[in-house]
Amino acid sequence: MDQALDFHTARALLDWQIELGADEAIGDVPVDRYALEQAAPRTAPRTTAAPAARSKDPDPVAEARAAAHAARDLAGLKAALDAYPHCDLKAGARQTVFADGIAGAPVMILGEAPGRDEDLQGKPFVGRAGQLLDRMLAAIDMGRDRPDRPVYITNVLPWRPPQNRTPEPGEIAMMLPFLERHIALAKPRLLVLMGNTPCQALLGRAGITRMRGQWAEALALPVLPMFHPAYLLRNPAAKREAWADLLDLNARLKELT
Ligand code: URA
Repeated sequence: MDQALDFHTARALLDWQIELGADEAIGDVPVDRYALEQAAPRTAPRTTAAPAARSKDPDPVAEARAAAHAARDLAGLKAALDAYPHCDLKAGARQTVFADGIAGAPVMILGEAPGRDEDLQGKPFVGRAGQLLDRMLAAIDMGRDRPDRPVYITNVLPWRPPQNRTPEPGEIAMMLPFLERHIALAKPRLLVLMGNTPCQALLGRAGITRMRGQWAEALALPVLPMFHPAYLLRNPAAKREAWADLLDLNARLKELT
């Protein structure tokens, strides 16, 4: 496999990896894990922990589920998140970024996680991507501050990941009970999933280039995957597809309301 890649193939492979969420280099040189496996075959017994000791370990997902279900309203859910001790991201974040917009709006928009601006201001989508999101919504006469055509906005993760890295599957799984409860309490008529992370969380799969514009169902609600506004800032040509999706969203909303 020593063939050189031409520029376009290499670029397409990189784009594909970024789309899958592998958008950060974590080492300077690649690691051949097949070679590692051969050098140190796994002959040791895989588990030595006594079941009795294990049963005392906290189960972060079960605790998240219990805390989320105990929340009777959105304020209670925010308090439950603030009290939840198991997600390490919280320690590196300035504050919990809960939601913005009008609770009870028919459209609930889900992003990935707060970035720097959101971490500072305590509201989702307030940086450059958020400003683009606001312009996109204004183009179909909607907005987080418009009582006549409101939206409600939150993220899969309420705490900023370090260096804005992509959320890890374990973090998504841990926070999913809170997200599901958030949706149940906010009672939207449909969900818009911005990018791969909310697709992974609620639909169990990613690949936004193929998924965008294709209505699906999650938690008994219609859901529309769309390109994330941050992706649109990097790839303005994709705004054409985003516009088609916004028109589709508008049409579906009219049917529902
Ligand atoms: N990107 C997101 O996914 N969410 C935000 O709140 C900001 C940027």
